[in-house]
Amino acid sequence: MSTALIPPLYVPQDGRYFMNFPVTPTSHTLAEFRGRGGYGALTKVLTTGIAPADVTKEVSASGLLGHGGAAFPAGRKWGVIKANDGEPHYVCMNADEGEPGTFKDRWLLECLPHLLVEGLALASYAVGGRHAFIYIRGEFDLPWRRIAGAVEEAYAAGLLGESILGSGFSLDVVVYRGAGSYVCGEASAMLASLEGKKGWPRNRPPRLTVKGLYQKPTVVNNVETLANVPAIVMHGAEAFRQVGTPKSPGSQMISISGHVNRPGVYELPYGYSWEQFIFDDCGGIQGGRALKCIIPGGVSTKLLTADAIKGVTLDHNAALKAGSQLGSGGMIAIAEGTCMVRAARVIQRFYHHESCGQCTPCREGMGWMERILDRIVRGEGRAEDIDRLYHISNANDGTTICSLGDSAGYACSAILDHYREEFEYFITHKRSMFDGRLAVVDPFAGAVPTPLAAGVGA
Ligand SMILES: Cc1cc2nc3c(=O)[nH]c(=O)nc-3n(C[C@H](O)[C@H](O)[C@H](O)COP(=O)(O)O)c2cc1C
Ligand code: SF4
Repeated sequence: MSTALIPPLYVPQDGRYFMNFPVTPTSHTLAEFRGRGGYGALTKVLTTGIAPADVTKEVSASGLLGHGGAAFPAGRKWGVIKANDGEPHYVCMNADEGEPGTFKDRWLLECLPHLLVEGLALASYAVGGRHAFIYIRGEFDLPWRRIAGAVEEAYAAGLLGESILGSGFSLDVVVYRGAGSYVCGEASAMLASLEGKKGWPRNRPPRLTVKGLYQKPTVVNNVETLANVPAIVMHGAEAFRQVGTPKSPGSQMISISGHVNRPGVYELPYGYSWEQFIFDDCGGIQGGRALKCIIPGGVSTKLLTADAIKGVTLDHNAALKAGSQLGSGGMIAIAEGTCMVRAARVIQRFYHHESCGQCTPCREGMGWMERILDRIVRGEGRAEDIDRLYHISNANDGTTICSLGDSAGYACSAILDHYREEFEYFITHKRSMFDGRLAVVDPFAGAVPTPLAAGVGA
């Protein structure tokens, strides 16, 4: 295939670093990746003798923020590790992607697997790593075949293994498939799982960059975070900062689902308008309905009402100011007419199922909240249930090992804050205020088999 018209790698096109080339059945292969200049950043570093600390410095200067949920600065994380301290160091790519509503890493794994291998190799070089890991969720099949295939191709081409490109830098990469547990996406649980132990999060300190995998300094980075590294190394921090906003440089991959006309994976430069994204790029809301709210970054982020997103741009500070976070980039658009009681129940069932059970407030609280929401949806809610849901949500805040417990509480209390009257109505009338009122399908209506869900008495 001719690559003449295909934009080179590492250079943004309309603010997009990744989703700017035609995806074909072979565009993920090493031959085509190299045809676009792929592995240019790794070659540059290994053949010109750029020091590991200088790679970290450039990544710090770029302002690259983690894309796994917490937006932690990547360079600051790497900078904790001293590449030449004689200790083994590890880098682990977090490809677990378990956050409900999030499916953007999957696109990168399927379409740009070599870019991820290159980013992982550069990160390993920067922190003095000799072994690196790709922890990929068990349910992923094509993404796993693509990334495992890319690792194999890279070994065969001398881009992984002993003395890469004759530089003396060696790196072995292991692709490890998880077993489908959401909590194994939490960095410390992931490392425990890699060691063959139960995938349980652990308290910090010590931080993972001090004691991580096998008790050695370890960097865990999200897929998309590592995907940004080659462009930064190739053209420098200043060029990277040309896209995005001063405090959120670069672009963000967003997977959008729910009631928009054109759901899918998009890449947007930071600073883009949310309204333009939802109403223009995604074609607005199905059936011409009004937007009720969005969950901006996976269900662990607080929902924002349609009013709250007016004038808001895609960047971390703006999202915080609006009352939420960009999280993992998994946006869910919810149309007017959707029952938020059922939505809360579906979300809570997920958290209860995924709690690892170590912390009492999370283990007991998740099930308790699910049971309360279950009985409200069955038409057996009690007047005191709303206050009890708030009480249990608050009990998780800051009292658990990982943020699964906190997030579940925030998700539920944000729904209650904005849609309390829907809960009151459900409890008083033993049915949703939307049952029978709309000819459109409420995706949450079938979530609980109950005679009331069909709109009896509307
Ligand atoms: C319950 C839970 C699940 C998580 N799942 C993921 C995940 O699937 N992918 C991911 O990159 N980060 C996930 N994280 C965040 C990771 O702990 C970690 O912060 C992230 O991988 C760091 O990468 P980054 O700095 O590049 O964002 C999860 C965190 C929690 C608490
Ligand atoms: S908060 Fe929940 S998921 Fe996280 S460690 Fe505690 S019990 Fe496990």
